[in-house]
Amino acid sequence: MKAIVCDAWGAPSSLVLRDLPSPVPGAAQVLVRTRAAAVNFPDALIVAGKYQFRPEFPFSPGGELSGEIIAVGADVSHLTVGDKIVGLTPYGAYAQEVVVDATHVLPLPRDIADDELEVAGSFVLTYGTSLHALKDRAQAQPGETLLVLGAGGGVGIAAVEIGKLLGLRVIAAASNEAKLTAAREHGADETIDYTREDLRERVKALTGGRGVDVVYDPVGGDFADPALRSVGWRGRYLVVGFAAGEIPKIPINLLLLKGSSLVGVFWGDFVRREPALNAANMKQLLTWLRERQIHPHISRRYPLSRAADALDALLAREAVGKLMILPQQVD
Ligand SMILES: NC(=O)c1ccc[n+]([C@@H]2O[C@H](COP(=O)([O-])OP(=O)(O)OC[C@H]3O[C@@H](n4cnc5c(N)ncnc54)[C@H](OP(=O)(O)O)[C@@H]3O)[C@@H](O)[C@H]2O)c1
Repeated sequence: MKAIVCDAWGAPSSLVLRDLPSPVPGAAQVLVRTRAAAVNFPDALIVAGKYQFRPEFPFSPGGELSGEIIAVGADVSHLTVGDKIVGLTPYGAYAQEVVVDATHVLPLPRDIADDELEVAGSFVLTYGTSLHALKDRAQAQPGETLLVLGAGGGVGIAAVEIGKLLGLRVIAAASNEAKLTAAREHGADETIDYTREDLRERVKALTGGRGVDVVYDPVGGDFADPALRSVGWRGRYLVVGFAAGEIPKIPINLLLLKGSSLVGVFWGDFVRREPALNAANMKQLLTWLRERQIHPHISRRYPLSRAADALDALLAREAVGKLMILPQQVD
């Protein structure tokens, strides 16, 4: 099988395409023929050696995938060969075959169409994060107003769409028209181009001076301060990520003045620590997906040999919605 391989810490351009033997699943694992692998920020950080853990060389990046089970470990009884699944793994998915812990596999209907299987591989991490953030952490209520930063990106579009499903009024903020159009297509009521418009003034105008109830921030950097100042009385500011690179320093007097809260969001640990609540969230998301109430947005698909281009596009802020790698297409 063919795989993208990381032999040394560095930029995505250091990745190479290689022929490798099929991996062998452990007793509690399954082997999956990968239909689609999502491109996520941690994939680039792992290649750079800047993530929370460093795999041993050589390894393939890629943490989120969909595909078909082609072998099961001796202790796995609830999954069988031929099952279509979504899987999460620390790394390994930028490859034609990948082993995944059976506990990190979500079964899909066996007759799911190929294009739907591809979409399923794109949405668990982003929609899982945004549902957990808005429902469990912000406890957002129907009628409240939500400001989403980076609203055209992976978790951002998911927050826009889930915000609407939870009955919120959604203000989407992003850096260009393509991203704002995508946010509108996923339900945003209002949009702000924060590279051309004053974020704080626009939020004030759109909320009649009251401010928003919830801020969803996967970006950090320079927009964190005006976004926090745009929070209204008893508002919640969701700390989701730092895609801009810089971790904001927050003047905590602003929290006192608004009776507001800073709320951390860590979906990966939520999945590990609160499996029952996560399972309920996943069930909800799969129902919404089946009912076409959510529409994961894949803007670009890459063959396996161009995985580095996909990571470069993500890092260059070019991604609208999700970028996907299709490992069975080599070039
Ligand atoms: N806390 C959690 O549990 C959790 C879960 C999933 C992801 N995350 C984090 O959330 C962040 C976003 O993930 P994502 O998958 O949505 O990524 P994404 O699709 O690339 O979206 C990130 C957005 O950040 C904005 N941005 C601003 N400056 C940027 C820069 N220098 N480089 C790249 N993007 C920049 C871009 O929007 P504009 O161009 O519109 O500004 C971009 O669309 C990442 O930091 C990720 O690690 C956290």
